[in-house]
Amino acid sequence: MQLTKRDGRVLMRVLITGGAGFIGSNLVHYLLRERPEWDLVNVDALTYAGNLENLSGIESNPRYVFVKADITDTVTMNSVFEEHRPDAVLHLAAESHVDRSILDSSPFIRTNVLGTQILLDATRAHSTDCRFVHVSTDEVYGTLGATGKFLETTPLAPNSPYSASKASSDMLVRAAHETFGMDVVTTRCSNNYGPYQFPEKLIPLMIANARDDKPLPVYGDGQQVRDWLYVTDHCSALLAVLEHGKSGEVYNIGGNNEWPNLEVVRLILEQLGKPESLIRYVQDRPGHDRRYAIDPTKLSSELGWTPSRTFERALPETIQWYIDNETWVERVRSGQYMDYFSDQYGERLSE
Ligand code: NAD
Ligand code: TYD
Repeated sequence: MQLTKRDGRVLMRVLITGGAGFIGSNLVHYLLRERPEWDLVNVDALTYAGNLENLSGIESNPRYVFVKADITDTVTMNSVFEEHRPDAVLHLAAESHVDRSILDSSPFIRTNVLGTQILLDATRAHSTDCRFVHVSTDEVYGTLGATGKFLETTPLAPNSPYSASKASSDMLVRAAHETFGMDVVTTRCSNNYGPYQFPEKLIPLMIANARDDKPLPVYGDGQQVRDWLYVTDHCSALLAVLEHGKSGEVYNIGGNNEWPNLEVVRLILEQLGKPESLIRYVQDRPGHDRRYAIDPTKLSSELGWTPSRTFERALPETIQWYIDNETWVERVRSGQYMDYFSDQYGERLSE
């Protein structure tokens, strides 16, 4: 990794992809706060999931630049690297929703697979010393039974077009290290929750529907288990991996926090004072992974990372954030998203 010094301080210029999305925008806020000497370049195509409102207040920060660009655009990616000369890349840009990938996998293959390769090529053309942190997901491991946890050595067995596209990108990142000696690290995190998550994902969707007394669509029996991590804990793990992760390695990220979906939905209803009669059991997601659970021992023992937020405190704060930011929810739900939403759930709601 190349570091330059200005006035005796270590200076780093980091290029983030997908910085207008849920995790990316939280990461931009986090890094500007935690690394005041770093410069950030945010490259985002502003798809339905990317929203500059998530970054309001920082546009005028002299250490931050936004570039509206698609990572599958080779010419533009090369010129972005030429102009900004980053020391490191944090690659988050992706199509991220499993249900959408079932309806149409093509944008997932384009952005998650092709886009990752184009970004790797642009990074390598710029410098093989440029550290490339690839933000992947625990979903590449497939599904677990009632016991056990995913380790970094667990074989990849993706079950959805989304997770298959992410697993493909993990393989391309691995190949870039083996073939070209690129300085890459891959992370695989469990489900995130917190502010600015697009309300197609479980937690913000259920909060928005419950607030409006609309049905809460629970897939199948609702006993599927997810391992929830607060988004800024993911951000602190990414910073630890960027600064101290071993080149060529994979790090799992998770907070040992498993919950069946139905219990999460009940917690939301309870906090909002809404009745359980709002729950609608709908047709299950095809290929639905039953249980995810991450073993983060490598990250904690090698890099000293631990999560700082508990579900018991951070979930109620998150629910309150969506209630307090009703206008944000309504704005991002408008337009293209509503067509998708009514198409999909119009069929699934089994009243
Ligand atoms: P998101 O859907 O909220 O945001 C994705 C961002 O990428 C958006 O800002 C979008 O505009 C941008 N983008 C999409 N296609 C692009 C393209 N072709 N070029 C440039 N920008 C593009 O996603 P998220 O939940 O913030 O996830 C971020 C990353 O973290 C993804 O790579 C995802 O696979 C991974 N991840 C997410 C979770 C989770 O729980 N959300 C868990 C583990 C890993
Ligand atoms: P989601 O937030 O889409 O994340 P992922 O599929 O990547 O884990 O879904 C989390 C869990 O919630 C998953 O088991 C599917 C389930 N789910 C529902 O039961 N109803 C819903 O409306 C949604 C969006 C998800």
